Amino acid sequence: MARLRVINVVVAGFFVFQTIFLLLIYSKHTVLPYTDTKPEKVHLLIISSWRSGSSFIGQIFSQHPDVFYLMEPAWHVWVAMFQNSAKVLHMAVRDLIRSVFLCDMSVFDAYLPERRNVSALFQWAVSRALCTYPACSYFARDDIANETSCKTVCGKNPFSKVEESCNTYSHVVLKEVRFFDIKVLYPLLTDPSLNLKILHLVRDPRAVVKSREQSMKALTRDNGIVLNTNGTKVDDVRFDVMREICRSHVQMYETAIDKTPSFLKDRYMLVRYEDVVKDPLREITQMYEFANLKLTTKLKSWIYNITHGKSSGSKRDAFKTTSRDAANVSQAWRSVLSFKKIQEIQSVCKAAMNLLGYQLIDTEEEQKDMTMDFVLPRKQYDFRW
Ligand SMILES: *[C@@H]1O[C@H](CO)[C@@H](O)[C@H](O)[C@H]1NC(C)=O
Ligand SMILES: *[C@@H]1O[C@H](CO)[C@@H](O)[C@H](O)[C@H]1NC(C)=O
Ligand SMILES: *[C@@H]1O[C@H](CO)[C@@H](O)[C@H](O)[C@H]1NC(C)=O
Ligand SMILES: *[C@@H]1O[C@H](CO)[C@@H](O)[C@H](O)[C@H]1NC(C)=O
Ligand SMILES: *[C@@H]1O[C@H](CO)[C@@H](O)[C@H](O)[C@H]1NC(C)=O
Repeated sequence: MARLRVINVVVAGFFVFQTIFLLLIYSKHTVLPYTDTKPEKVHLLIISSWRSGSSFIGQIFSQHPDVFYLMEPAWHVWVAMFQNSAKVLHMAVRDLIRSVFLCDMSVFDAYLPERRNVSALFQWAVSRALCTYPACSYFARDDIANETSCKTVCGKNPFSKVEESCNTYSHVVLKEVRFFDIKVLYPLLTDPSLNLKILHLVRDPRAVVKSREQSMKALTRDNGIVLNTNGTKVDDVRFDVMREICRSHVQMYETAIDKTPSFLKDRYMLVRYEDVVKDPLREITQMYEFANLKLTTKLKSWIYNITHGKSSGSKRDAFKTTSRDAANVSQAWRSVLSFKKIQEIQSVCKAAMNLLGYQLIDTEEEQKDMTMDFVLPRKQYDFRW
């Protein structure tokens, strides 16, 4: 009897062990519902608006060796159909980014000539992935890419390299300034073939206007599309485009936190450009965490260099920003814009500014008083949920 009991205990123990083992295996599998054994891909969409620091944030992702990055692929949609409104083009833009996320580059057949090289893509050379192996064999995959040298040696590669390269990455990151409504993205958020995360980048509208005024001509066609002018180019002198941009920030933010649909949970993160400028490493670490990316030693060193003025020779605004004068740069609008203009922008963007922690300036004295900071500290605005 005693011997039988011992055997029973052994058998029971074995069954318990086996059950736990099977449960472990099973739970591992349920974490990956859409693939067999490969880790799940991440599709990150950086949504921003013109002149809000999104090229800089795009670079932060582009240089990561696990990321296939494209800047503004929907530029091609807007150029091809410039007589339409942003609202009408939303759907074509959504279809395009869905295909690109899935590395199906045939979607560009609609917008590019049949015979084309990598260089046919808008701003292709800011994509580290298109400048390194396997898209371009001159540079190793984990090299920090240099836009200038990339342009000279990688542009003539056949367009098929875009797709080939994309397929080798765990992360596809796209940056777009052409979404004004987060609901347009719902079908992608619920699409089982995608694992979409949205990084919403905003910036003080007053700083945005200052920057937009420096590149006014370049924005007139896009302004026309935002304002639905049937192809007529316009200057945004009355801040109608700014009104639309600010309205869209409110819509996205409120939808994502107040009326969060279940499929948006843990898939939305809001970042203020000013916070990135103030403490780049902290903010970048959090953005990487959100995207399931690891900060490598090399990237850390590169980020330190570009935020401390040891720039890569690129002429982009963002790269000229050093942390020493970061506060100075994000305050520059205060000495450039007239008080009257500041009031106009504030009146158009009031709701967004209240929501995002950008305080209104009430008097010209406040505008001049550089001891005052009109960006509320980040801790009062913790944007993760
Ligand atoms: C693409 O690159 C090849 C060289 O590899 C060149 O002969 C051809 O003209 C290029 N095509 C276009 C459309 O730029
Ligand atoms: C838009 O402009 C084109 C010419 O550029 C014109 O043929 C068309 O009728 C215009 N559409 C509207 C709705 O005004
Ligand atoms: C950063 O700068 C230092 C000194 O100029 C240089 O040695 C290092 O290679 C740079 N790091 C990267 C990743 O570019
Ligand atoms: C980038 O490439 C250009 C041209 O080849 C060169 O002048 C510049 O020094 C490079 N920058 C870096 C950081 O390597
Ligand atoms: C930025 O710094 C420069 C000199 O360091 C100064 O002349 C300028 O007034 C500063 N601008 C702002 C907006 O603080």
